[in-house]
Amino acid sequence: MGPRNLYLYTFGCQMNVYDSERIRQLLAARNYRLVEDPADADLIFLNTCSVRAKPEQKVYSALGRFQSLKKEKPKLIIGVGGCLAQQEGEKFLQRFPYLDFVLGTKEWGRINEVLDNVETLEKRGLAVSLDGRTNPYASLSFFPSPSKARSFVAIMQGCDNFCSFCIVPFVRGREVSRPSREVLEEIRALAAQGVKEITLLGQNVNSYGNKTSDEISFPGLLEAIQEIQEIERIRFTTSHPKDLSPELIRSFGRLAKLCEHIHLPLQSGSNRVLKRMNRGYTVEEYLEKVDQLRKACPQVNITSDMIVGFPGEEEADFQSTLDVVEQAQFDDLFSFKYSDRPYTRAAEFQDKVPEGVSRRRLMELQARQRKITVKRNKIWEGRPVEVLVEGCSKENAEEQTGRTRNHHIVNFPRTDDPIGSLVQVRIVKAFAHSLRGERIV
Ligand code: SAH
Ligand code: SF4
Ligand code: F3S
Repeated sequence: MGPRNLYLYTFGCQMNVYDSERIRQLLAARNYRLVEDPADADLIFLNTCSVRAKPEQKVYSALGRFQSLKKEKPKLIIGVGGCLAQQEGEKFLQRFPYLDFVLGTKEWGRINEVLDNVETLEKRGLAVSLDGRTNPYASLSFFPSPSKARSFVAIMQGCDNFCSFCIVPFVRGREVSRPSREVLEEIRALAAQGVKEITLLGQNVNSYGNKTSDEISFPGLLEAIQEIQEIERIRFTTSHPKDLSPELIRSFGRLAKLCEHIHLPLQSGSNRVLKRMNRGYTVEEYLEKVDQLRKACPQVNITSDMIVGFPGEEEADFQSTLDVVEQAQFDDLFSFKYSDRPYTRAAEFQDKVPEGVSRRRLMELQARQRKITVKRNKIWEGRPVEVLVEGCSKENAEEQTGRTRNHHIVNFPRTDDPIGSLVQVRIVKAFAHSLRGERIV
């Protein structure tokens, strides 16, 4: 059969981006190639997210828009995968009669088998078992992607923490680490393709390997990656503060390739709220770890996540959050309004915060953080930094873009440096979301 067109859209986090790339590779073997316009597609696949109500709504409205395409082109196949697909399962097929298949977070490796049934038997597909397959990446043959400067690599899936607001443990299952042998093999294959920077992914990377007695620890894994010559930079996300070990903190000062950035979600500045969130640490313990990180690595860039309007959050709790944000001086903060999620304990809590109050708190928190971020970014003005060239800027073809080791985006006038080069750039101006620089020759 000739080439067919795939429109692949990814909602949610880096884990979904990574899974989508694997799905793209599985479908490439079936002669599907990517297109940018869903109207050109023979297959539309949405990799979905359900962490908050907003990404969930986005998926439903996208599917709504595709209904008319299906009417015009009855042979068009439409499928969903990812966390919302896992959450809804069969309900998805009932709600959208023109949907052809639903794949769960551990079952997308079966996409070709499901497509066989859809194409030949016109049978709608549903594969959403969560516990049957432990490591969804294990049985897949891996095709390294075309040369890019950076790449994600999943090292684990799932979560055992059950924060009371979070749906992830229910849609990604229990925590499962991939064998280090498999992870290292994949990184070597990427390195051979020209990838220079690796971001290790997991819901809680700090507990990597803890469930298996003969597996190396997370700092041990970082050390093994450090030995892969062509890899220049290593990052990871996300760390849970309660499992941030002294050994991992030391790695920041010790491992030359480990970039000076850590994303360490705090979620609230109030101990009372943290307790109801089931986070397993206090504000004081968190700040102590921040302190240790900055001692071990004075250049470290620390970013965090925060939720406002968690059930029962009083004005005084919110005030504590603002205070901690001032104290911690995060380089950036991702803040969200609390959103009820199915299966979670917090959804059952009675003392919900009114929408208007959450909205005001979110705006206040974001305004406060914006000032801190700009102030922290300003420190870089006039300084030389190392940038990994990622390509042309999306808005302006005359501009090149890349990231510093600290994870700042830097835009600078275009040069002949190929994608994947490490170049020296002097920062001339700092903004809230990026830095502007000039290449140092
Ligand atoms: N440990 C995970 C967390 C994933 S969710 C990781 O890999 O990053 C990302 C962020 O979304 C969380 O840190 C939290 O701040 C936010 N979040 C999760 N559930 C939420 C909910 N029900 N309402 C609002 N924000 C939520
Ligand atoms: Fe990622 Fe969580 Fe969204 Fe799933 S629910 S895509 S793990 S952010
Ligand atoms: Fe969610 Fe908490 Fe795990 S935020 S992914 S339950 S660490």
